[in-house]
Amino acid sequence: MKLHQPVLLEETISSLNLKSGEIVIDMTAGYGGHSAEILKIIGESGRLILVDRDNNAIRELRKKFGNYANVEYIHSNFADIDYGKIGRVDKILMDLGVSSPQLDESDRGFSFNKDAKLDMRMDQSQNLTAKDIVNEYTEDNLANIIYRYGEEKRSRKIASEIVKHREETPITTTKQLADIVENCLPRGGKIHPATRTFQAIRIATNHELESIELALPDAIDSLKSRGRLTVISFHSLEDRIVKRFFKSLVEAQKDLVTGREIESPNFRLINKKPLKGSLIDDNPRARSAKLRTIEKIN
Ligand SMILES: C[S@@+](CC[C@H](N)C(=O)[O-])C[C@H]1O[C@@H](n2cnc3c(N)ncnc32)[C@H](O)[C@@H]1O
Repeated sequence: MKLHQPVLLEETISSLNLKSGEIVIDMTAGYGGHSAEILKIIGESGRLILVDRDNNAIRELRKKFGNYANVEYIHSNFADIDYGKIGRVDKILMDLGVSSPQLDESDRGFSFNKDAKLDMRMDQSQNLTAKDIVNEYTEDNLANIIYRYGEEKRSRKIASEIVKHREETPITTTKQLADIVENCLPRGGKIHPATRTFQAIRIATNHELESIELALPDAIDSLKSRGRLTVISFHSLEDRIVKRFFKSLVEAQKDLVTGREIESPNFRLINKKPLKGSLIDDNPRARSAKLRTIEKIN
């Protein structure tokens, strides 16, 4: 299995401005690439909390960091973290989306390059699968999902073909879904025709965007003063949520009548523009990566 190459590793570590002894949550610990670097800097006096909703990842993390007494593990959606139990923290990292091992594990059903059961659950204990969405959602609902989460212009045509096919026989594999999409889109273009539809069904299966919207305010509230939150996103839908949320935090509160500033913001952006992944990066996902960091002032 190809292990996950951490994306924007140097940029992430320097953006977090880590110090020995700090308390850090890696909200998307995956296979621990970023976590290993974080741990080196915070050292034995630090505390590292590793969160992932994927049980396979948690199992690998326990193996990887088993010798460290200052590492804790939480199998959970990052939207459901109980900060009451953790207390205030210095730094938080969110490296969104799927990991390379998730894409590579043939039984997970994330990839149109591998024939597998249509699953796509990041959390294997969740009930809803991609197969349920593809076979049970109404045509309208499917078209909306494919349009909104895949930004796919031909969403209506794809949804209608999916419904036609499933009336004949249930769509249970990634290959079936990829073939349906491929057959109803014009050939050509740089990316596989099923890329956008697969992204959309994956986002819907895992409620990815809702989870980010829910998690960000709680994460910010849990920061100590001078605490930082770094988020790496991989597509415009994720990045838009992060960008808007950060913007709302750094804008001064104004009096509605006089327009005068009544409260200056308690946050600052570490970089005005997001840091971007490189085209020569080992991990192809890095090419579309954007990293944003915000700091709590007091
Ligand atoms: C891009 S990978 C992170 C890789 C990690 N930074 C590394 O260096 O190995 C994203 C990870 O976040 C997890 N994940 C995605 N959304 C999540 C959520 N809402 N809650 C918890 N974990 C999530 C995925 O299961 C996956 O393991």
